[in-house]
Order: sequence, then C-alpha cells, then structure tokens
Amino acid sequence: MESYTQDVQFFGNYTPEELLKKFGSPLYVYNEKIIRRQMKRVAGILPNHRFTSNFSIKTNSNLTILKMANEEGLNCDAMSPGEIFVLKKAGFPSDHIFYVSNNVSEEEMKYALDAGVVVSVDSLPQLEMFGRICPGGKLSVRLNPGVGAGHHEKVVTAGKKTKFGIAAQDIPQVLEIAKKYDLHIIGINQHIGSLFMDYTPYLEAIKHFLIYAESFDELEFMDFGGGFGTPYHKLAGEQEFDMENFKVELDKLLSDWKKETGKDVLFKMEPGRYIVAEGGVLLGQAYSVKENYGHKYVGTDIGMNVLIRPELYDSWHDVEIYRDGKPVVDGPKDIYSVVGNICESGDIVAKDRELPVVKENDVVCVLDAGAYGYSMCSNYNNRLRPAEVMINNQGEAVLIRRRDTYEDLVRGFEV
Ligand code: LLP
Repeated sequence: MESYTQDVQFFGNYTPEELLKKFGSPLYVYNEKIIRRQMKRVAGILPNHRFTSNFSIKTNSNLTILKMANEEGLNCDAMSPGEIFVLKKAGFPSDHIFYVSNNVSEEEMKYALDAGVVVSVDSLPQLEMFGRICPGGKLSVRLNPGVGAGHHEKVVTAGKKTKFGIAAQDIPQVLEIAKKYDLHIIGINQHIGSLFMDYTPYLEAIKHFLIYAESFDELEFMDFGGGFGTPYHKLAGEQEFDMENFKVELDKLLSDWKKETGKDVLFKMEPGRYIVAEGGVLLGQAYSVKENYGHKYVGTDIGMNVLIRPELYDSWHDVEIYRDGKPVVDGPKDIYSVVGNICESGDIVAKDRELPVVKENDVVCVLDAGAYGYSMCSNYNNRLRPAEVMINNQGEAVLIRRRDTYEDLVRGFEV
C-alpha cells in the first residue's frame, strides 16, 4: 500500500493542508466511517451469545466518539472516577459502565458505587475495602489468568510479572472475604494485555478463566478484556487482526462450555485500540529539514506531548508525507528521523525512517493515532494540546475538541 489515507479517502472533502489551515497544526483527525465500522465489528463478535462489547475509554475519551459508541450499542469500561464522569456526560447509563478499579481509595470506590456502576476489584485488600463500605453488595473480581500478551512489557497486564488481578491460587481467600461481608460476586474479569495480532494467548486465557468460573456460583457475567491489535505496519502490508476466525473459535469455545456446564452468563470484552486506532491520524508540519553529523532530521510540531507512544514504548507509527494536496509516493527517498519541538533529545516520532525526500512545509501524517494518542497528550513545555476534528460520513470536517489556549495553561492557579 502506498498511501493508506488516500486509499480510504480519510480526509473526505479536504486535503490535509486545508485542514491544517482551517484548524491549526498539529491536529488530530478522525474518520467517522472507519470508527463506526470498527464499532460495529466489535459489537458483533458473539452474535450467538448474550454479549456486550465495552469500549475502553482510556484509548480515546472524546465526547463525540463516546456518543458514537453509545449509538452503536457499545457499553464502556472505566478506569477512574473521571472516566465514569465523562461517560455519564456522553449519555451512558450506569448499567452500561463497568469500573475496572486498580489501587483506589475508599472515596473513589464510593464514587462509583454512588453512581450505580458495577465495580471490579483487583486485590484482596481492595476486596476487603469494598466489603467494609458496601457489605452485602454485588461486584466483580479481576483475576489474573497467569497468561499475558502485548506489544511491550509495559502493556502486558496479566501473567506472573504484573501488578494486575488476583492470582488464581487466591480464589479461596476471595470466597472467604466475600462470605465475611456477604458479598455477591456476580462477575469475573480479566485483561491480558494490549496489542496482540495472534489471538492464541487470549483464547488460552479464556480457557483458564472458564475453569475459574466454576468457583463462583452467582456469576452473571464474565469479561475477557480487550487487547485486539491494529496493523501499525500497514504500509508494509501488515494484515488486520483476524477477527473472522477469532469469532469462530471463540464461539465454539464458549458454546462447548455452556453445553458442558449448563451455565449461561453474559459475556463481555473490553476492546479499545481496535476500535479507534485506525480511525485517527495526527497531522503536523515539517518546519525544518536538516542534517546533523550525517543524520537527517525532519523537524515538526509533532512533539512527544502530542503523541508519546513512540517515546514510551518504542512504538512504530507509519508516516506519510503530503505535498500539494497529495501523498508523495514516487521519487527519491532518504532516511530521516522525524522529530518534534520538545526540549528532549528523545523527542522522536519515527527514528531512521525511509521517507520520500521531505521539503519544508510538507505535511507529516502519522497513521493509527486514534488510540492512546490525544488521551495521553500533555502540556509538557507548556505546549498546547491540539484540536480534534471528525471527518463525518458526508466528508465534512467538524471540530470536536478545540485546541488549548494559553489561558488554559494558567487555569487552576490562584494568581
Ligand atoms: N481493559 C483493561 C482493563 C485495560 O487495562 C485496557 C488497556 C483495555 C481494556 C483496552 O486495551 P486495548 O484493547 O486498547 O489494547 N498506552 C498503551 C496501551 C495501554 C493499555 C492499558 N490497558 C499504548 O499506547 O499502547
């Protein structure tokens, strides 16, 4: 593939230059068609079972996108009271929100309970805390199936080397604490990690999970977590996550379990990245092309405050260069590091990347930036967080979050 954005007509009725002119640079741009397509895909993972897909709001908490998720019939998982607050603003009813808590204060736990949201706890002390503040209550426990997966050790959230979940061998203690406080464990949940293209570990973890389920006799739901990958190397031909075969294998696994045990619970999942990554790109501008001691740099306004994934996890994002309204795909190439405008030498979006020869004022388009892009933005160096724009189904560009202002930088100070 030479240009993803051109192939899918990502920018609708505009060129990237026009969008930057209208909304400023850098700019997150989303495409409604792609995002809704992905939402429909996850909503339909298990058509033969009672099932809901929970959009994981940590990937992208723009209200417009959350409202779309609500319209497409998704539920949501939240990781903080702030996420619960925003989900409510987007119109999600309490029983469509699942709070996957991790090391929270009594106050935060109470916030979720008062909001009428089902809570999952992920340690024995937090289960005790739940029992103290809500004796007789209903909740879910997050189990660690001992199997993890993910693109980087920092995003593997199950297995033997992570802070998350309650180990299977501690299930007897879970039951004891539940008895002590008359708690009803109506759900068990897990999340093995983020960004896997091979679904085998996910199915393995579910097999473990189905065995753990036998210990809980009041189960109403089981939540298997998210983590389905996005092809970040799509320009080199990387294929999509194989959702079709995954669905078939998962359906069989769960149908067999239901037949064997005679049980029927609501199944849930928590995909995030799979829903929004490909439907978002980050546009910026090349202001300076230079050579330093034999290394070539494209100096842009895409700093690590705007997209931190490459710096945090050495993540790869494909980069396209636009000039005069078109992606540059032919002609000479060179090797560049695409860097930002932050005062850190690690501020590198794409390191030693082969790109078409870049000129000043070219538009730099970073692909697959819709997940963990804006949601991980910061004001580091007192830079402004960018605006977000949605290309709607008619190809029109709609501003869905304004750029920060300088005044925003001093909001919260008393002076
Ligand atoms: N459920 C739970 C409990 C999670 O912790 C996560 C992600 C998800 C669902 C959604 O996972 P997804 O389907 O998006 O892979 N910032 C990192 C990823 C951190 C993931 C944290 N948990 C990145 O940019 O790659």
